[in-house]
Amino acid sequence: MLSAESLAKIDREVAKYPVDQKRSAVMAALRIAQQEKGWLQTETIEYVANYLGIAPVAAYEVATFYNMYDLSPVGKYKLTVCTNLPCALQGGVDTAEYLKSKLGIGFGETTADGRFTLQEGECMGACGDAPVMLVNNHKMCSFMTREAIDLKLAELE
Ligand code: FES
Repeated sequence: MLSAESLAKIDREVAKYPVDQKRSAVMAALRIAQQEKGWLQTETIEYVANYLGIAPVAAYEVATFYNMYDLSPVGKYKLTVCTNLPCALQGGVDTAEYLKSKLGIGFGETTADGRFTLQEGECMGACGDAPVMLVNNHKMCSFMTREAIDLKLAELE
């Protein structure tokens, strides 16, 4: 189900916790599984749970709670736009609307060419850089005005 490389990464995460607390590595393990598979199918979540020796529902609860986990296929670039209040007050809603019109998709949708998925996100702890956008769960983009979005999309094309 997962490559030896991914399992080795998960083992390194598990080793950070006491032997009887393997469940503490569930977030990292799901992240590693998603990196390999592109998104988290139910079977993948169950596999991770079994690997950690926890109930599948415990892993499923984590995977469904955090929006960094994708429970369906996403585009090459997943753009998560923060629309919480501090970002909204600094143009976050306009950022989201601009992206929707530019990409021709709404939240939770993927462009027909499979390049971009757009997602609404919660506060990313970088309110001072509002409006904030995250690319593929890892790359934080600050001050995402319309001009900044144009530059970022051109960079990702
Ligand atoms: S409200 Fe957007 S990063 Fe905090």
